[in-house]
Amino acid sequence: MSRTVSHISTRRPRISPLRYPGGKSALYPRLRAIIRDMGLAGCTYIEPYAGGVGAGLGLLVTGQVEHVIINDLDPAIYSFWKTLCVDNDWLIEQVATATLSIDEWKRQHKIYKAADTSKRRELGFATFYLNRTNRSGVLTAGPIGGFKQNGTYKINARFNRKDLCERIRILGLYSDAIVPIMCDGIDVINRYAGQKNTFIYADPPYFEKAKSLYLNAFQAEDHKALAHVLNNHKDDSWLLTYDDVPQVYELYKDRRKKRFQLNYSANKVMKATEVAVFSDTVSEVNTCW
Ligand SMILES: C[S@@+](CC[C@H](N)C(=O)[O-])C[C@H]1O[C@@H](n2cnc3c(N)ncnc32)[C@H](O)[C@@H]1O
Repeated sequence: MSRTVSHISTRRPRISPLRYPGGKSALYPRLRAIIRDMGLAGCTYIEPYAGGVGAGLGLLVTGQVEHVIINDLDPAIYSFWKTLCVDNDWLIEQVATATLSIDEWKRQHKIYKAADTSKRRELGFATFYLNRTNRSGVLTAGPIGGFKQNGTYKINARFNRKDLCERIRILGLYSDAIVPIMCDGIDVINRYAGQKNTFIYADPPYFEKAKSLYLNAFQAEDHKALAHVLNNHKDDSWLLTYDDVPQVYELYKDRRKKRFQLNYSANKVMKATEVAVFSDTVSEVNTCW
């Protein structure tokens, strides 16, 4: 299939149309190195806690991986990805013509709150609209510039139509290679771990701050259950990233771990320390972490 993506940077491709709190597109070069070092070029790449799939879609459009499984338990996020794949032209039309105003924000907010999955594409677009017009891309936050629009930045500050339509169009060319699903991340890991030619990158909700960022935050028992599953699959190919908290060192005490720094650009560029946990097969290869 011929896909026109020549102008996308292969250093750190920015292709996801979603802004994501904690988005991991900056991990692209490191994931690419791991996948190459492990001889998994052209594999099926799985994000069980997908959000904006910042790194994974970069791997897809630069040809590092062949398929991307996008899983998120949030019906709003799922609806967006599904709409991008099956109603690509419709979505581009909505983005190209959307009114950027507080009245329209309220209308889209109502659709998002109703979370009616039988109106999947309307829910998908409302999710996108709020993601691009809310402070820091947080779906439960208010609009950039406030309801009175008296802030420095206004509701349209992050809604660059031309660029967003182009990202959606390019990803539409890959719709046969993208599989959006809406399951519990643990079921997805159990389904794909150990299958030939697969790589899992798990970026679950953090221990701290997740409650204010995502619909589905994790409780202590969810973190434990995930650790149980990933440790059981220690000989399969996966990478996990978390906020740098003591619980991660305890839950994954037998796995190799590495602290790393990430630049986040929500409103201003900030540095955060996170921790990467490697399955035993990933630890064996010489990666750039
Ligand atoms: C840290 S974010 C992922 C950020 C993503 N890596 C990116 O680059 O944009 C975590 C995501 O996991 C989703 N989530 C929370 N609990 C889940 C579960 N049990 N199963 C699947 N997804 C879940 C949330 O809706 C959220 O979108």
